[in-house]
Amino acid sequence: MALPPKGVLQSEALKKYIYETSAYPGEHEHLKGLREATEKKYGSLSEIAIPVDEGRFLSMLMRIMNPKSTLEIGVFTGYSLLSTALALPSESQITAIDIDREAFEVGLPFIQKAGMENKIKFIQADAISVLNEMVNNDTQPEFDYAFVDADKANYKNYHEQLLKLVKIGGMIAYDNTLWYGFVAKEEDEVPEDMRAVRTAIMEFNGLISSDPRVEISQVSVGDGVTLCRRLH
Ligand SMILES: C[S@@+](CC[C@H](N)C(=O)[O-])C[C@H]1O[C@@H](n2cnc3c(N)ncnc32)[C@H](O)[C@@H]1O
Repeated sequence: MALPPKGVLQSEALKKYIYETSAYPGEHEHLKGLREATEKKYGSLSEIAIPVDEGRFLSMLMRIMNPKSTLEIGVFTGYSLLSTALALPSESQITAIDIDREAFEVGLPFIQKAGMENKIKFIQADAISVLNEMVNNDTQPEFDYAFVDADKANYKNYHEQLLKLVKIGGMIAYDNTLWYGFVAKEEDEVPEDMRAVRTAIMEFNGLISSDPRVEISQVSVGDGVTLCRRLH
C-alpha cells in the first residue's frame, strides 16, 4: 500500500530541509538502526512509524516532563517507543501495548542494544481491553503521559479510559490528527480506503476541542500530534 506524504510533510523540499537541518543530525544510532531495519522489512509500510522530526519532538517533550510512568498504545517496530525510552530517566517505566508482536520483534534488538529494554513492559493485546482491565482493577495504575498511535476509530474510547488513568496535570498525545492532510480536504478528494479514518479523526478532533476536562494543542509535526493536558 503506497501512503501519501504525512500531513505537514507534503512538500518534499520542506521535508528534506527539516530532515537535513534538524531531524537526522544527532539521531541516536539505535533509532537510526531501528528505522533502517523497519524500512528494509516493511518497505513503504514503514511510513506508518512516526517520522524522525516527530521522534525528536517527543524526546524533547519527555525530557521536559520527566515522567515516571508512561503508556504507549500502538508500537509497530518501536520508533516512538525507543524515542521515548531514550529520553526518560532510568527508573521510569513504559507500558507498551500492541495487538501484534511481530513488528515489535524487528525493533527489539535495537531497543536492547540501546540498553532500554528494562524500561519497557510490552503487552501483546487489544489496547482497549487492556485499558478497560486497568480501569476496573482495584489497584488502578496511574500514568504521567500516554502516547496513542493505534486504531484511529478507537481514539474516542481510549480518551475516555485514559482520562481515568493519566493523572491530573498529565499529558495524552494523539498521533495522526491531521491524517495525511485529508482533514482539510473534501471527501471526494480523499482515497476511498482512507475516508473512514478521516471521518473518525475529524470527529475526534471536534470532541477533544470541546472537552472541558482537557487543554489541547494541535502540534503541526509529522502527521499532526494533539497534546491533551488533563485538567481535572
Ligand atoms: C501507526 S502504527 C504505530 C507506529 C509506532 N508508534 C511507531 O512509531 O513506529 C499502529 C500500530 O497499532 C497497532 N494496533 C492497531 N489496532 C490495535 C489495537 N486495537 N490494539 C493494540 N494495537 C493496535 C498496530 O498493530 C500497529 O502496530
